[in-house]
Amino acid sequence: MLFLGASAAGQSTTNPIIQSQARFQPVLARQGMVVSAEALATQVGVEILRKGGNAVDAAVAVGFALAVTHPRAGNIGGGGFMMIHLRDEDRQVAIDYREMAPAAAERDMYLDENENVDQGKVRFSRAAAGVPGTVAGLLHALERYGTMKRRQVLAPAIKLARSGFKVSRDLSRSLGRARHVIEHGTARGVFYDRDDNPIKTGTLLKQPALARTLGRISKLGADGFYRGETAVQLALDMQQGEGLITQQDLGNYKVVERDPIVGSFRDHRVVSMPPPSSGGIHLVQMLNIIEGDDLAELGAGSAAVSHLLTEAMRRAYADRSVHLGDPDFTQVPMRRLTSKDYGKALRKTIGERATPSDKINPGEQIEAAAPGNTTHFSIIDADGNAVANTYTLNFSYGSGIYVPSLGFFLNNEMDDFVAKPGEPNGYGLIGDEANSVQPGKRPLSSMTPTLVLNRDGLPVLVTGSPGGSFIITTVLQVLLNVLEHGMNLAEAVSAPRIHHQWKPDMLFHERGVSPDTLKLLEGRGHTLRERRVWGFAGSAGYDGEWFYGFADSRRGGALAEGY
Ligand code: DON
Repeated sequence: MLFLGASAAGQSTTNPIIQSQARFQPVLARQGMVVSAEALATQVGVEILRKGGNAVDAAVAVGFALAVTHPRAGNIGGGGFMMIHLRDEDRQVAIDYREMAPAAAERDMYLDENENVDQGKVRFSRAAAGVPGTVAGLLHALERYGTMKRRQVLAPAIKLARSGFKVSRDLSRSLGRARHVIEHGTARGVFYDRDDNPIKTGTLLKQPALARTLGRISKLGADGFYRGETAVQLALDMQQGEGLITQQDLGNYKVVERDPIVGSFRDHRVVSMPPPSSGGIHLVQMLNIIEGDDLAELGAGSAAVSHLLTEAMRRAYADRSVHLGDPDFTQVPMRRLTSKDYGKALRKTIGERATPSDKINPGEQIEAAAPGNTTHFSIIDADGNAVANTYTLNFSYGSGIYVPSLGFFLNNEMDDFVAKPGEPNGYGLIGDEANSVQPGKRPLSSMTPTLVLNRDGLPVLVTGSPGGSFIITTVLQVLLNVLEHGMNLAEAVSAPRIHHQWKPDMLFHERGVSPDTLKLLEGRGHTLRERRVWGFAGSAGYDGEWFYGFADSRRGGALAEGY
């Protein structure tokens, strides 16, 4: 581990109290903190903590609650990753509940007769769905690391689904934007009226079919989803289109506990998600590239820091495109990619000017898009146990296909595979054989649930974000803003972000980066592109005295609440 001394202000950079003069303030509490993208779900988590549940109990309850109140990304029809910090043992656990390709999936199944990617099929059809992992993942976490009964943690979600809740402005608007959902028409009668108008703000939304599905899970555990009634209905629904998921696929779904990626930055440990997510590896790789520079001295948001970050991002994403995939199917050089030596070697290739991406690895120019909507939540309990969980349907409302008899949307995670080498997916990411479609394989992800631990094993930062390919760079900047630039959590999350992903060779930035900085970056050879805001880095932390949280105000309806 490298210890390069104190950072920016030469003080405890994570203690929000010291920075009470800041323009943005985190929420503070004494016993625990829950931060999620939806207020009712956050309150469910806080209530579980109040009742004596630990961070994992709260996370499982929040995970199921979001499936009801935040259906565009909260889910039981998708998958994700959970990072857990067990304070007593100073042990971190990475739970992989990513979707699996069905047994009938094939490498070229998304190519049309002209060998072009059939985007409708890979994104908006039943064939876009991988075998969902969420139910198995949440229940695995509960059984191994929780303390409460399944019935207790599922009860709030079942109640929200059965008795209903008032639709928020955010939910109504997101349904209005979700054209692909409307086109399928499967969610009519629940989320839309007969004329395809989304359910209005303030209306009571009840989801009886979902309540029944959740009820079966509460009663029977994973068997309530992967076998019996739910499995039969889901397999039947698949037959209405070109869906591949069978009852057998559901029965074969496996959660995997994996060794987390562990890196360091200055005197903090950074523990994050291993493959099949690319998040942890590239987060640590980028930190290693820049660790030798004094970013605090150069200044947060300066052209010098932005240039360095951009070049680190460019190099990491180039590696992603060739080396990363499901580690059960492809050899991922994890050690090498996350080694300090490799980071230093890459740093030496960075000069004063932008390195054209084609010089790093030849390829086509493509647009990066981010139509998706994943969701992340961060939870810390009174004992300092922490959960960082990111899960998703991939796009907002997944494939847009809703299973009426079961009450949930199906993911379109198959688009995270490489349908054709060199062809961009929905996030403009390109890749190769390491991430090709194979039966039973998990598509490569960018989700980066992350724990940052100080020398005493305290989770001083628990973070993650939606945003597809923009996730890893979002987490990188939140982390640097706290550890290197001495910002409190609220400032760190609110600061404008930049992003580069090698291809397209474009430096994306949010509004709020100074025009002078942008000019300087252009002068160094970067091609700039302003994009509307991205990510939702709902983060929490605990410094041994105070719990702090911040919900990221880029998305409406979110809540950080402690007690
Ligand atoms: O796993 C992944 O990397 C993507 N399926 C995540 C999608 C996402 O973050 C959408 N959110 N805006």
